[in-house]
Amino acid sequence: MLNLERKVALVTGASRGIGKAIAIALENAGAHVVCISRTAKDVQAVADSLSNASSAACDVSSSESFTELVKNIVEDKGRMDILVNNAGITRDGLILRMKEDDWDLVMDINLKGAFNGIKAVMRSMMKQKSGRIINISSVVGLTGNAGQANYAASKAGLIGLTKSTAKELSSRGITVNCIAPGYIATDMTDKLSDAVKENLNKQIPLGRIGSPDDIAHMALYLASDEAGYITGQTIAVDGGIVMV
Ligand SMILES: NC(=O)c1ccc[n+]([C@@H]2O[C@H](COP(=O)([O-])OP(=O)(O)OC[C@H]3O[C@@H](n4cnc5c(N)ncnc54)[C@H](OP(=O)(O)O)[C@@H]3O)[C@@H](O)[C@H]2O)c1
Repeated sequence: MLNLERKVALVTGASRGIGKAIAIALENAGAHVVCISRTAKDVQAVADSLSNASSAACDVSSSESFTELVKNIVEDKGRMDILVNNAGITRDGLILRMKEDDWDLVMDINLKGAFNGIKAVMRSMMKQKSGRIINISSVVGLTGNAGQANYAASKAGLIGLTKSTAKELSSRGITVNCIAPGYIATDMTDKLSDAVKENLNKQIPLGRIGSPDDIAHMALYLASDEAGYITGQTIAVDGGIVMV
């Protein structure tokens, strides 16, 4: 049984979908979990449903807000053990028609948001000489996808960010890893057309769409002491879509 008692975890995008499942899994294993998203009432509802969690509204693309939030958590809880950079958005479209604003927004939230989080927690983790950073990428960051140049670039960027951060922080006992989910049933994928969903389904060797819990199980493992010899890795949790 993986045990996170006395650990403090921060999960971004925890108001629904994959982030919510990760927050629940970490809390069930004993961690105090701080749940964040932009919408205060949604993320508060998640924290309220758990016995050892709190919440805050924060836009991860603002380095100022993210830094302030982490400063407050460390002052209050005395430590910071686990950061899950999960918050992410899509603004899909073919490059020919993609607006610069849609490129920038996706980069600011998906990629710079993770950089902001890492910057905000790293001093505390370095002082503790321990920590776990988990970035939620995507199989699309490994394969690319027509109509998702901004999203795929942000998710591929997370893989490079993960490897670089892992190299910078490994001597301090901090591991940094990426999970690359495949096609997971959440609000993000619910808006896809039935035809796209059916086509995606056909590409999954294990023959089913993933659930947020499939990702949460891997996040829990990577957050645990048992995963202490794994760093800089990107682990696809995708029903076998990407096999390397
Ligand atoms: N679902 C999939 O098939 C799939 C596949 C591969 C990778 N992923 C990745 O997994 C992660 C979670 O996806 P999901 O499907 O669970 O998405 P989702 O259901 O749309 O949830 C996204 C979460 O991120 C929060 N969020 C968005 N922008 C934010 C910001 N600027 N600051 C703070 N929080 C923000 C949202 O809350 P607010 O809107 O209130 O801020 C929400 O809690 C994303 O990074 C996504 O790219 C998903």
